[in-house]
Amino acid sequence: MYLSRFLSIHALWVTVSSVMQPYPLVWGHYDVCKTQIYTEEGKVWDYMACQPESTDMTKYLKVKLDPPDITCGDPPESFCAMGNPYMCNNECDATTPELAHPPELMFDFEGRHPSTFWQSATWKEYPKPLQVNITLSWSKTIELTDNIVITFESGRPDQMILEKSLDYGRTWQPYQYYATDCLDAFHMDPKSVKDLSQHSVLEIICTEEYSTGYSTNSKIIHFEIKDRFAFFAGPRLRNMASLYGQLDTTKKLRDFFTVTDLRIRLLRPAVGEIFVDELHLARYFYAISDIKVRGRCKCNLHATVCVYDNSKLTCECEHNTTGPDCGKCKKNYQGRPWSPGSYLPIPKGTANTCIPSISSIGTPPKFNRIWPNISSLEVSNPKQANVCDNELLHCQNGGTCHNNVRCLCPAAYTGILCEKLRCEEAGSCGSDSGQGVPPRGSPALLLLTALLGTASPLVF
Ligand SMILES: *[C@@H]1O[C@H](CO)[C@@H](O)[C@H](O)[C@H]1NC(C)=O
Ligand SMILES: *[C@@H]1O[C@H](CO)[C@@H](O)[C@H](O)[C@H]1NC(C)=O
Ligand SMILES: *[C@@H]1O[C@H](CO)[C@@H](O)[C@H](O)[C@H]1NC(C)=O
Repeated sequence: MYLSRFLSIHALWVTVSSVMQPYPLVWGHYDVCKTQIYTEEGKVWDYMACQPESTDMTKYLKVKLDPPDITCGDPPESFCAMGNPYMCNNECDATTPELAHPPELMFDFEGRHPSTFWQSATWKEYPKPLQVNITLSWSKTIELTDNIVITFESGRPDQMILEKSLDYGRTWQPYQYYATDCLDAFHMDPKSVKDLSQHSVLEIICTEEYSTGYSTNSKIIHFEIKDRFAFFAGPRLRNMASLYGQLDTTKKLRDFFTVTDLRIRLLRPAVGEIFVDELHLARYFYAISDIKVRGRCKCNLHATVCVYDNSKLTCECEHNTTGPDCGKCKKNYQGRPWSPGSYLPIPKGTANTCIPSISSIGTPPKFNRIWPNISSLEVSNPKQANVCDNELLHCQNGGTCHNNVRCLCPAAYTGILCEKLRCEEAGSCGSDSGQGVPPRGSPALLLLTALLGTASPLVF
């Protein structure tokens, strides 16, 4: 309902737009940073929150293996057929293309038969552990939007940890533990994502779901992004608005899905039995045919385009922001502190553009809306019960639902769902007030308010 209304209004308003893309239905809007609208004063730009489209991020990563010489084939060695310990005449040879298994083959086009894969050396040095780190680096913060999927060509490992970094590989945190026996391997109780809830969604779990040994159908390991989204957006991610609202207000949740690097720590290969067969150590190795990572550049809702140039991802910042993640205001646009765009109010969000520095103002620029600081909230209708977060009703205009009972509205709004302008209720809206602009706040007054950093003139 919301979407179709948005589209029709939008279609009437939009005349020019810098980056116009089709509307992806699942991932909602936020795909346009600005549009030109007609007002009584003529054409003006209207700015909104925007983000790049979600895409296959494996095209932009660098992969590093530790130990560096762990790939099989140098020197050539023989290994046993996958799942068949008595056929040990297969060969891995790095110098022969048909027999080599370099790391790039984890990211090449799948669907070829036989499939191509990276393979490690075998577990010759048992009982010394066979451990491999596969580190994927983007040199850029990215936001994951879909499950990470790792497809093994050999059996799935008995023990593995998926780790993430948010600071370009300086520090690492576990993302998820995988083991055939979580208690034994990591002293953790086994859990599955389905055991989590909205409140425990950030918990780091150990799962036994993906670690049964050799079997043709069980080659895949997931890190479940979508199941975690579903705690907020509902089963088929129908209510993305609710997820976006949560991401907007909960930094920890946003950060949970944000990474600069991922690391797959392979700790023990699939053994498939209780004991390691010491007579056939060429049975044991790791082999991965595919890794899927979907996401988008994190641009703080200030860009729809992320360019890959010189093996580097960079946001093409709008809203007079700059930096690889649009994380600061451009020179001469530091009239108020930088802030990320906001997903709220649904569906266009708030651009939170950088505004000219005081010293650089000659004539005040054409002003777009300043939304009140979302934390300067007022309570409205405290007596209403269970109104603001159910299947159909959500707070509007940047209001947030408090205890499922009431919307906390930005200062200029009122109503059970913050649907009304406060001045409308008081019958005091000026005739020249534009869409969503509080009445007595003329553009100049609003600008002044922003420059002086006080929200009080916005409260009527
Ligand atoms: C893998 O990385 C971890 C840190 O994330 C480190 O402690 C460990 O020594 C590394 N293992 C190998 C084999 O390089
Ligand atoms: C950013 O600055 C340019 C001038 O450098 C101006 O034309 C443009 O409208 C500004 N954009 C925003 C979003 O404020
Ligand atoms: C919003 O208001 C809160 C408290 O009044 C303040 O701590 C915060 O810095 C403000 N944020 C912005 C972006 O102005």
